[in-house]
Amino acid sequence: MSGLGDDERRALADAGQAHLADRVDAASGEDRATLLRDIRGLDLPLVADLVRRFVLAREETPHGGEIQPPEAIALPGSPEERDAEAAAAARGEEFLRAGRLALVLLAGGQGSRLGFDGPKGRYPYGPVTGLTLFAQHAHRVQALRRRYGAALPLYVLTSPANDDDTRRAFAEAGHFGLDPDSVRFVVQGTLPAVDMTTGRILLDDVGRLALSPDGHGGLLMALRRSGALERMRADGNTTFFTFQVDNPIIRVANPAFIGHHLEADADMSNLAVRKHDPAERVGVIARVDGRTAVVEYSDLSDELAALRAGDGRLALWAGNIATHLVEVAFADRLTEGGLHLPFHRAVKRVPHVDAAGRRVEPDEPNAVKFETFIFDALGQARHSVTVEVPREVDFSPIKNADGSDSPETARRDLNRLYASWLEAAGVAVARDADGEPLHDLEIDPRLALDADELAARLPPGTTITGPTALGPGD
Ligand code: UD1
Repeated sequence: MSGLGDDERRALADAGQAHLADRVDAASGEDRATLLRDIRGLDLPLVADLVRRFVLAREETPHGGEIQPPEAIALPGSPEERDAEAAAAARGEEFLRAGRLALVLLAGGQGSRLGFDGPKGRYPYGPVTGLTLFAQHAHRVQALRRRYGAALPLYVLTSPANDDDTRRAFAEAGHFGLDPDSVRFVVQGTLPAVDMTTGRILLDDVGRLALSPDGHGGLLMALRRSGALERMRADGNTTFFTFQVDNPIIRVANPAFIGHHLEADADMSNLAVRKHDPAERVGVIARVDGRTAVVEYSDLSDELAALRAGDGRLALWAGNIATHLVEVAFADRLTEGGLHLPFHRAVKRVPHVDAAGRRVEPDEPNAVKFETFIFDALGQARHSVTVEVPREVDFSPIKNADGSDSPETARRDLNRLYASWLEAAGVAVARDADGEPLHDLEIDPRLALDADELAARLPPGTTITGPTALGPGD
């Protein structure tokens, strides 16, 4: 039976992973074949370096020094600010019509907190029709293509664990009405989980390493390796817009955001919402030692998170909704000769099988995982802008099975948003004693992307008398 060659054994030993050779020798048949495939896919010098720095030397990712509020373009309040916003939107629309933008949907994560089996995009969150997150995003993309008469190619970031299921979800749904050639799947890389004391790579099963996605920073490398960056250039796309699969309401390709990004000649830009309380689990966009950066919620002290500005509002107010504009040329620079982003270590509980083939279900964190984050690229951007957007219009993520950021909060937020559109279009919406819409509402983005479009397209005489889903043809 074929196994590891001498060079491979030496390379494993050099990387401090000689135990993997023993595991291969002990495995047979299909298990040995799959284990060999996983091992041959490893970037051993990288793993050795990460283990040396983050496990054996316990290096922490530097968070920089002084953390201050970011410079940001606030929600327009004054007439001048509204004019500036309109000018930015006009510039963004022109850019969109010229076909310069590509879209990147981040859907490579594991969605473990939601407890949903399968790609998160398959989650049927729509309260009336069971609409999935993938369908919602795809319908929005279709509507945007129609609105701007532009190709707006969609790149979907997957990971080895969910790539097949994601492609199947699109194929089975006829790509949700999008031209299949206009949807391109890009698989991100993986990195192994290692024992937190020894740095040895763990096995998920006798024939499988414990591998997980390398973080959404891996997007950049995946775009380069797959040829997507080159493809974007060939298609005339100079910029791409990244958004998260778990946020159904995000205004994809927001023209004012694009306009501000262009105006600033930015390499990479961010959207922000005002944090609703200090403990909200979002990273904050800030200035760290004078440069724009995102400080993860896990890295922000309670004191800093709760600090108030002179007006009584949170000083570090700018919640990161992980939605960015990135220049293709900047992504190119960041990935030339390898990915130039710092790694983060995360200490996690990782079930595995030990050398005797026994399953181990640890009660305590036992392993270190490594990830890169796309927003760490901000430190290398020559210019960037941060633009504030209203939470109720742009951010209602589905992360947890219940409580905050759950299907229930998304249902509430969508009902509120769609009710406000309907009321602006002159349709009465019944509300309960708390002022919440009485009935669940869905509005297909292909019917209307915003309140103005709904007002223009809604047939006169529309009434809401129960749970209502307004489809593309309504
Ligand atoms: C993330 C941000 C946080 C932000 C919050 C807003 C990070 C590290 N933090 O936190 O600053 O305030 O979103 O919603 O991102 N993904 C991949 N590949 C990966 C990992 C993630 O594609 O390897 C995708 C996921 O599919 C998802 C998104 O990135 O669409 C966010 O990942 P998640 O792990 O849910 O991040 P949060 O902890 O919620």
